[in-house]
Amino acid sequence: MPTNPDYGPPSGSAELRVYSENVGQSFVIPAADMQRSLDRMGIDTIRLLRAEGKQQAGLFFYRMGQWFGGRVVPSWGIAGVVVAPQARSSGAGLRLMRELLLEARGAGVALSSLYPATQPVYRKAGYEVAGSRTGYKLPVAAITLREKGAEVRPATDADRALYAKLYAERAKSNSGMLERDKALWGRLEGTPENPTYHYVIEEDGKPTGYFIFSQKRAVFPLADYTVMDHCTLTPVAARRMLAFFASHWSTGDNLVMFGAPLEPVLLHLAEQKAKVDTRWDWMLRIVDLQKALEARGYPDGATAKLEFAIEDDVLADNAGKWTLEVSSGKSQLIRGGKGRIKLHIRALAPLYSGALSPAALVRLGWLDAPEEDLGVLAAVFAGSSPWMMDFF
Ligand SMILES: CC(C)(COP(=O)(O)OP(=O)(O)OC[C@H]1O[C@@H](n2cnc3c(N)ncnc32)[C@H](O)[C@@H]1OP(=O)(O)O)[C@@H](O)C(=O)NCCC(=O)NCCS
Repeated sequence: MPTNPDYGPPSGSAELRVYSENVGQSFVIPAADMQRSLDRMGIDTIRLLRAEGKQQAGLFFYRMGQWFGGRVVPSWGIAGVVVAPQARSSGAGLRLMRELLLEARGAGVALSSLYPATQPVYRKAGYEVAGSRTGYKLPVAAITLREKGAEVRPATDADRALYAKLYAERAKSNSGMLERDKALWGRLEGTPENPTYHYVIEEDGKPTGYFIFSQKRAVFPLADYTVMDHCTLTPVAARRMLAFFASHWSTGDNLVMFGAPLEPVLLHLAEQKAKVDTRWDWMLRIVDLQKALEARGYPDGATAKLEFAIEDDVLADNAGKWTLEVSSGKSQLIRGGKGRIKLHIRALAPLYSGALSPAALVRLGWLDAPEEDLGVLAAVFAGSSPWMMDFF
């Protein structure tokens, strides 16, 4: 638990209200809506920084995991980082992030990720860009698929556990997808004012996918559909999902969906009619070097001994010389070694996630290692381009 008395969860409803107002003002959200969301998440997911009893800054977090190399690594997803408007540019943002990281490490968390509205403060805290979330926009009329090789049925409450099972099946073969906690899954449920629509795809009675979308009025009678989550494990399921939306041609204007930088589902379309609409790169922080490296999976064929020299000015226990031994998809990290591969903990994030190759890191000036180690590093951290479906 936190040891700094100026840092911790809100002491009660008055502090929670001030934080909700600060978040509301910063991100142009009604404070009452913000307070309702935070109430749902629980006071234990909020952290505040105070000075002389006055609230200076706050954030909230999701207790989640992130998939790397086919395994889930425990992570905290950070959101709502806000310094009180009158206290900005005086170091409070960075102080809050340092406290949070110390707490996360103490709680046994290996990673942390976030979507940055600004980068310098997070870079100073040891985060670096390490993956993306790409939103695509596709005119419904441009979906020419008509296939019905699978059944689509409205989902029921009983299907929620099925979503998690199908989702994990896909996430394990991707880099960077979240293992969602209750709050992250809860965000897909919609509200009476903004409902979400849930469907399961089945082939011969066996579930092979699901999708969840919301809709927004375009020009009457047209609507835009936003697919908030989709998971199709077979080509037939992917094509059925696209055909579902094609069959909405009479009222559908655009389909918005999120996915990988090169989204496989969209390759079922004959033409490149889905255009990148939004793209936001998330940042990753290696909170506990040993846990992060040992908890993830590695390519089965990779066998290596890598000798690192890590710099970390925020979480000093990560710093120093370490040797990573990798074989049969697993690894062990021990103190010591020659420190041949020199990099800051910040630069390790995009290497760890597979976002940047060792050669790219060298060109950035973020990695210094003997030429012969670069190929080994590339083989050990090889994976598909990291991305996630969620925004938080
Ligand atoms: C972004 C925010 C959290 C940063 O916190 P802060 O306390 O204002 O920032 P700090 O004083 O800790 O400064 C951290 C770094 O941010 C940058 N920064 C600070 N003030 C800045 C300014 N006026 N212009 C540009 N960069 C600035 C600097 O790089 C600074 O490091 P340095 O002082 O060593 O050069 C805060 O300004 C804020 O709440 N903004 C509105 C909400 C928001 O955007 N939140 C982020 C959501 S991801």
